[in-house]
Amino acid sequence: MIRKGGSNWVDGENFFDRESELEALEERVREKTHTLLTAQRRMGKTSLVRELQRRLAETGDFEVVFVDLEAATDPADAIAEIGVQAKAVRAAWDRIMTSFAILVRSAGGRIEELSLADLKVKLRAGIDAGNWSQRGDAIFAALSESGRPVVLAIDELPILINRLLKDETGRVTPEGKREADAFLSWLRKAGQAHRDQVTLILSGSVSLEPLLEQAGLSAQANIFSPYDLKPWSEETAVSCLEALGQSYEVSLGPEAGRDMCRRLRCCIPHHVQMFFDRMHDHLRRTGRKAASLEDVEWVYVREMQGVRGQVDLQHYEGRLETVLGRTGYTVALEILTAAAVDGGIAAETIDRYREYFATGDAHDGDGAPAFDHVLHVLQHDGYLEPRDGGYRFVSGLVEDWWRGRYGQRFVSVFDRQR
Ligand SMILES: Nc1ncnc2c1ncn2[C@@H]1O[C@H](COP(=O)(O)OP(=O)(O)OP(=O)(O)O)[C@@H](O)[C@H]1O
Ligand SMILES: [Mg+2]
Repeated sequence: MIRKGGSNWVDGENFFDRESELEALEERVREKTHTLLTAQRRMGKTSLVRELQRRLAETGDFEVVFVDLEAATDPADAIAEIGVQAKAVRAAWDRIMTSFAILVRSAGGRIEELSLADLKVKLRAGIDAGNWSQRGDAIFAALSESGRPVVLAIDELPILINRLLKDETGRVTPEGKREADAFLSWLRKAGQAHRDQVTLILSGSVSLEPLLEQAGLSAQANIFSPYDLKPWSEETAVSCLEALGQSYEVSLGPEAGRDMCRRLRCCIPHHVQMFFDRMHDHLRRTGRKAASLEDVEWVYVREMQGVRGQVDLQHYEGRLETVLGRTGYTVALEILTAAAVDGGIAAETIDRYREYFATGDAHDGDGAPAFDHVLHVLQHDGYLEPRDGGYRFVSGLVEDWWRGRYGQRFVSVFDRQR
């Protein structure tokens, strides 16, 4: 029975559909193809990888390791994180401990039970700026020799790469570029050297490609074959809503479900889950069990776009600012607001913006992301899609959020100049 997803990743019973995606990824793993999983925010990338690993581990054919690099600050830290998560593979773990010369025995000779956090501190102490790549190689070698093929998932690698590349103002620095380059080329070599034993799956809440492109490092990703995770079809989203309805004993009926999907326009699993949750709350509050089209309208306007919905928007904005930096974010804000207010942005307007942001006050020197880079990120991360030569929001919900938040006070840079 499926339970509500909340906002963290889901697997097992709470994981809905995605059968063809799981099949495609399993095939890649069995064929030893490294994958770069891409999709716009909240599409269910982390969940998909977790569920894939759960199922692969269940077959007994694979060992699985999941690493999240969101909090990693530098290559040494990333290696320590990979190392500590490799604990999931018993045979490899013993070798790692030996290669790091870590003694997990207390004075009395008993094996200490250390938490993952403590173990990571121990590993981290043995890694520095000079030896991280050798340490990393040792971890890969240990995984390779574990007896079973290993599926190593690395989530939020782009966040680490972004952090390495840029200074506080969001500019790519020469040292940052060197460090990101060194880490990526290490990963690439390790991935190639251990191809038969370790399959990599990379994912993240921001896209890797525009980042690498901006830094001139695109070639570093060429061992990874991209896999683009799409939104649910309306049909799938409606079945998910029905399944959730059954679990919580409320009825959405196909009509209400369909109307919910139409408002979202793009059925991003997290938004579908959120809509269900708000609807469920609304029905509970009003003491009812079935949703009408009026309920859909009410919940969409009052709840999805209300204060609670906006919390999610802040998350989107935060990520955008992280990848674009201050200056780039200002440009994105302008483009997105213009697109939200007018239900899209025409080709001529894009050209005017390109010209505006390339000259004069708006351009503040080297290192600031170019207008087309911002546009590329907005498209790559799934905010905008091309339409009639211009662009429009992919998601109706994100568009409505954006208009609600910035639309009313919006004066375009062109009008501000007058
Ligand atoms: N297959 C699924 N079945 C049911 N719910 C899902 C599924 N995939 C995603 N969700 C819903 O979406 C939410 C976000 O999922 P997840 O964290 O996997 O997405 P993500 O793409 O990794 O997000 P981010 O861009 O923030 O990294 C989950 O909490 C859940 O509510
Ligand atoms: Mg994720």
